[in-house]
Order: sequence, then structure tokens, then C-alpha cells
Amino acid sequence: MAVKFADRMGKVEGSAIRELLKLTARPEVISFAGGMPAPELFPVEEMKKVSVAVLEEQGQVALQYTTTEGYLPLREKIADRMNKTLKTNVGPDDILMTSGSQQGLDFSGKVFIDKGDVILCESPSYMGALNAMKAYEPQFIEINTDNDGMIMEDLEKVLASNDRVKMIYVIPDFQNPSGRTWPLERRLKFMEIINKYEIPVVEDNPYGELRFDGESLPSLKSLDTKGLVIYLGTFSKIFCPGYRLGWTCASPKILEKFNICKQGADLQASTISQMEVNKFMDMYDLDEHVEKIKACYVKRRDIMLQTMKEEFPESVEFTHPQGGLFTWVTFPEGIDAGEMAKKCLEKNVAYVPGASFYPNGGVYNTCRLNYSNMPEEKIVEGIKRMGEVLREELAKSGNEQLTTNE
Ligand SMILES: Cc1ncc(COP(=O)(O)O)c(C=O)c1O
Repeated sequence: MAVKFADRMGKVEGSAIRELLKLTARPEVISFAGGMPAPELFPVEEMKKVSVAVLEEQGQVALQYTTTEGYLPLREKIADRMNKTLKTNVGPDDILMTSGSQQGLDFSGKVFIDKGDVILCESPSYMGALNAMKAYEPQFIEINTDNDGMIMEDLEKVLASNDRVKMIYVIPDFQNPSGRTWPLERRLKFMEIINKYEIPVVEDNPYGELRFDGESLPSLKSLDTKGLVIYLGTFSKIFCPGYRLGWTCASPKILEKFNICKQGADLQASTISQMEVNKFMDMYDLDEHVEKIKACYVKRRDIMLQTMKEEFPESVEFTHPQGGLFTWVTFPEGIDAGEMAKKCLEKNVAYVPGASFYPNGGVYNTCRLNYSNMPEEKIVEGIKRMGEVLREELAKSGNEQLTTNE
């Protein structure tokens, strides 16, 4: 077939996670691979009542097109919620509804990136964003991170020496993949640097409301005095991903460009999805629902961290997330997490090797573990099996650190 594709398609790859998820769909697999919420917490019975109410009360509106910006009552609720939980000061006109926050990531690339422009991101960063943005042919410069997220000295060095930086992509709360959160000082320093260089920042925050421990921190958006922060929110992790509802909140000049992208992509987010989520918030208490999710995930996090402490060799490190869905594991040098993933899959345990979270590659001994999607007994069993494989691998590589943390 003599079909010629656009050059940009040479740069993009399918998500390694989505490929892996196909393998992990078998019921016997204990999967720490996806970023999926616990399905047993979805409010199925409530949504049956909600859909009937929407169709009975406003069926013709729900099945019709709506504005590109999105359903106003829902945008009003989102603005109120942002102002309450994130300390922002925004209104419904600052919000554009999107198909998940993933669409906002794609639009960010479309709006800001010409071929060869530089995107700065945390190292590691969310592969779904990197893959979406790759279509616009950027260069990625990864900024080093430590346990408190992006290192500001490194960020400043890159900004001072590179004039092609067009956008910065960050996840300051319970980051995917590392589970890390930036403390307040880092957020303040970050905004100081950004204000100096005036570079647009995409603050991607699907997990911020899922805080189990410690105090909430102000979002970058709430600290933004120059209209540089583009905030991406979503109902996927605090409600259900199936509705595919997210939003972009940005200053008017930027939001207008996103609106144009939305018109071209799919005209608008689904009317009936927006009305159902809005109705759920009228009929039930979303805060209460979020509390239920948190109560379940904190137990799963605790059991995963505790079992890793008991079952993994001491030389293995992992993060202690204060919220969100993931912990990030670093194996000793020489252990290839990709190769080890195959051996774990033979024991019916799946995780995502860390390599694909580094846009420029080169790191092989890390992996991401999700704890939201598996019941506690499976978490224990899966981590035990991983521990066995790890000990075998370390023994093979002649690594002497075989003791456990017990
Ligand atoms: C950091 C991050 N951003 C964006 C998304 C996309 O989420 P959605 O499109 O469901 O809102 C995800 C999904 O896991 C994510 O982890």
C-alpha cells in the first residue's frame, strides 16, 4: 500500500500502558499497571436515577448539541469547586469542557508548539501527555526531580540557557507516575521563575482532591498573577472516567485558542454526559463520594507500602505518596524493569516499567505501581510475587543485597 503518512506520525507511539492493559485484562492477572479507579466505587445505582431524571426533565436538551464552552450549570459548579478546593478565583467563563483532561493535553500541544519548540517537563512525567504532545514535534527537556518534585535550580538553568522553551508541563499533586507532591516553597519559587520568563504552564491535576495525609496546598493556578497557568481538571478520578469529562481553566486569550481547537476536534463535550454529572451533583454529594474513594485508596496504599517494605529487598526504593493512585519504585542499577515485567507477567502480575515516562529515554530500573484498582488481598499477593522475582533477579545479577526489610 503506497499510503504516505504525515511526518508527525513517525514521532508518535501508542501508549505502552494501553498495550499492557490488553494483556492484563485476563481475570487471573493482578494488575498494578493501569491508572484505573476502583470500579466498585462507581455510583451505578445513583446514576440510574440521575439519567432517568435528566431524560424526564430535560430530555430534548440533553440529546441536543450544546455550546462549545459546555453546559453552563456544570461550569458554574466546577468554578465553585475549584475556588473552594484549590483557592482559585475563577468563574464559569474561565472554563472550557473537554473530553477528559487528556484532550486538554492534546490542545496544549496544538496551541503552543511548532516543530522543534521545547517543552519542559518533570523527569519522569505522564506518558499519556508526552505521547499526545509528540504529535506536534517538540523537543522535550526533562527537568530533574527529587522527592519534592521538580528541582527549581535546574529549571532556572534551562530557562536561562534556552530560548525555544514554549511551554512547561507539570503535575504538582500526587504526580503520575511518581506519586510525589511539590511542597509550598517549591510552588512559590516555581511561580517566581515563571513570572520572570513568562512561559505558559500546563498544570495537570487529576489527583489533587485525593489527598489522604497532610495539608492541602494551593494550586499553581491560585498563585498565578499573570494568566500563565492553564489548569486541567477532570471528573475521571473523583467520579468516573467513563463520562470522559474534563475541563481547561485558563485566561481569556488562551482559552479562546483552546475553544477553537475544541470546535475543530469535536464541537463540544457530550451534552448528556455533562447534564448527568451536573445532575449527580444536584441530587447527591460529590464531596461525600470523594471521601469514600479516599477511604478505600488510603487502605490500599498502606497495604502496598507495608507489603513492599516486608517483601522487597532493602536495596529497592519506593515513594510514599500522600494521595493519588501511584507509587514509584526504583530497583538497584542493573535490574531492567522491562525484562522483569515479563517475568512478573509469567506469575500473573503486571506493572508499567518506568522507561516510557522519560521522553528522552535512558532509565531502565524504575517502575510505576498503581494501588487503586486491586482489592487489598490481591495487592498483598501481587507484591509478594514481585518480591520473589526481584530476589531471583538480584541473585542472578550477583547483587549481594538480598536481605529484606523485615
Ligand atoms: C496526569 C494525568 N493527566 C491526564 C490524564 C487523563 O485523564 P482523563 O482524560 O481521564 O481526564 C491522566 C489519566 O490517567 C493522568 O494520569
